[in-house]
Amino acid sequence: MKVKTPADSYTSMTEIVLPNDTNVYGNLMGGRLMYWMDIAAAIAAQKHCNAPVVTASVDNISFEKSIKLGNTVHIEAKVTRAFNTSMEIHLRVWGEDFTTQFKYKSNEAYYTFVALDPHGRPRQVPQLAPDTDDEKRLYEGALHRRQLRLILGGKMKPGDASELKALFDQEV
Ligand SMILES: CC(C)(COP(=O)(O)OP(=O)(O)OC[C@H]1O[C@@H](n2cnc3c(N)ncnc32)[C@H](O)[C@@H]1OP(=O)(O)O)[C@@H](O)C(=O)NCCC(=O)NCCS
Repeated sequence: MKVKTPADSYTSMTEIVLPNDTNVYGNLMGGRLMYWMDIAAAIAAQKHCNAPVVTASVDNISFEKSIKLGNTVHIEAKVTRAFNTSMEIHLRVWGEDFTTQFKYKSNEAYYTFVALDPHGRPRQVPQLAPDTDDEKRLYEGALHRRQLRLILGGKMKPGDASELKALFDQEV
């Protein structure tokens, strides 16, 4: 399988916040944003593996700044690391008010997708070679985030998370 770069999966999505997307305070609802983020992440994952994918998990999302009715939402997604059948996708989200020409960061998150074969079973994905310093930093951190989410998802015993343990040992 051909090794891919994060640029190969780069996905940019733009939406406008309409009345039906907001809560009673006129802010974009978190669930609607997560829906758009899920689509952007799925497109990035499919660009990487050229196969159908499903969302396996979504890491903790904190909403740093609310996005107002009428503002534009920018979502950028790209694969940070590929494992065996799964891929981690990093998303960054900004809001933009064109009337005041103000662009602000809203949040960021990591999604994990698994590629499926025609029988709906997990299938191998191409490996990823990071290019820029930011991509290398995300690539290195992906191993720790993977072990943490597998422990929280009940898919890994804490004692088996050697890389994560080494990180904590190093910090103490
Ligand atoms: C995600 C799913 C395919 C994993 O299937 P599974 O039978 O658990 O398969 P495996 O245990 O072999 O795991 C397959 C991969 O998923 C990863 N995975 C499983 N659970 C995970 C979780 N909670 N978080 C992150 N990754 C997970 C595994 O680490 C493995 O990755 P790897 O091959 O790169 O090491 C399966 O649980 C599923 O279909 N879930 C429903 C998906 C869905 O409906 N999503 C919403 C709509 S798209």
